[in-house]
Amino acid sequence: MFTAENNELLTRIERDSPMGRLFKNYWLPACMSEEVAEPDGTPIRVRLLGENYVAFRDTNGKVGIMHELCPHRRASLLLARNEECGLRCIYHGWKMNVDGLVVDMPSEPPNSRMVGRIRHRAYPVQESGGFVWVYLGAVAGAADVPAFMAPPWANVNFAISKVQSNANWAQVVEGVLDSAHSSTLHSSNIRPGGKGDRTSGGDLIIMDRPTNDAAPRIQVQRTEYGFRYAAIRTPTQNADERDYVRVTVFMAPFFSVIPPNAHWETVIMHIPLDDEHTMQYSVGYSDRTVLDTEKFRERSGTRVGIELDDEYRPIRTQHNRYLQDRAAMKAGHFSGLQGVTTEDIAVNETMGPIADRTQEILAVSDMAIVQFRQMMLQAIRDHEAGGPAIGTQVKWPRADIRAFEGMIPKGVDWRTVAVTDAEVAGYVSQSGLDAA
Ligand code: FES
Ligand SMILES: [Fe+2]
Repeated sequence: MFTAENNELLTRIERDSPMGRLFKNYWLPACMSEEVAEPDGTPIRVRLLGENYVAFRDTNGKVGIMHELCPHRRASLLLARNEECGLRCIYHGWKMNVDGLVVDMPSEPPNSRMVGRIRHRAYPVQESGGFVWVYLGAVAGAADVPAFMAPPWANVNFAISKVQSNANWAQVVEGVLDSAHSSTLHSSNIRPGGKGDRTSGGDLIIMDRPTNDAAPRIQVQRTEYGFRYAAIRTPTQNADERDYVRVTVFMAPFFSVIPPNAHWETVIMHIPLDDEHTMQYSVGYSDRTVLDTEKFRERSGTRVGIELDDEYRPIRTQHNRYLQDRAAMKAGHFSGLQGVTTEDIAVNETMGPIADRTQEILAVSDMAIVQFRQMMLQAIRDHEAGGPAIGTQVKWPRADIRAFEGMIPKGVDWRTVAVTDAEVAGYVSQSGLDAA
């Protein structure tokens, strides 16, 4: 039984919650670079861990992220002028540079000693792989900021998308760690019964998967950064000789590498905006295929102005029942919902903003979800006891880590196949705790 107390610990990230404190040990994607593309352009609001920040690109192209409210009398800096290397509050004209330093105070006497001495709370920022990343564990200029690691797609072809869910972060992560649902919820978009050796991909909205097996066997392997889990299914062809295996990698606390398709790798990042809202960033990347951003967003149903409003919120919501099409269901569409993203968001949101895990009945196909909860609760205990945040002792995120999707001969352990050489040489072999 999952207790109410553990549910609070796992899910709450606002204010000074233990999980919120844990999240402040990682560089978090704050927004996409394209949202603050223009030097001296319109500042945007960034919400993270229950707080509002303002992000802007200064005259020289540097991005700054600071608390939204002016350090003087707390007017919103979303309204500020963005000019000559700083945000100038429109109330009394105080001006802050990207590091938060107050560089001009026109409402103070000319000999004021405050100018150039006081600071607004601004945070370290990096740009890489299409994202603006922020570290909320220390203010800009602090000495104890962990080195920034470029994400695995930084130097290859990639496309990214963004969509908000009205649900707690842990519940959205659990959706990704739940391979079994893809054979049911998504069965009209990811069709079973494909004859190939891999899931097809490309520009198609509909993919084929080489299996009819809706009840995968789930096996979990703990690693220092989190865990890997395999969903093992009986393939459509040559089932006596091989298994169809999908390996997902979870790098705690928010970075999931999901099984690739025939053309690209996929990472999904789930970033808590507050206790009841989560931003999902998806990345497709490949050193073989050039990904088209527009097609990528069309495919995932994440186009602003079509599937999403201009704050990346879906137009299909709980209030319009996600525009579920009952006639389509009668005609054979399984869920009646348009697209995998809508299907995922609908099931996550209808659990309530924070799912009551004390009321669930879990079964064997939920093993990866159980592992996620145990691991994150242990990560909180370790961190609260003064230990390092989970995964931060190894390079994070690990650029060399890949998910896996394909056939494995029967009798061969997926743990020995679905790894990169770097992992074999690294620490996976040192990790214990096999839950299989
Ligand atoms: S409130 Fe911003 S300058 Fe006064
Ligand atoms: Fe899904």
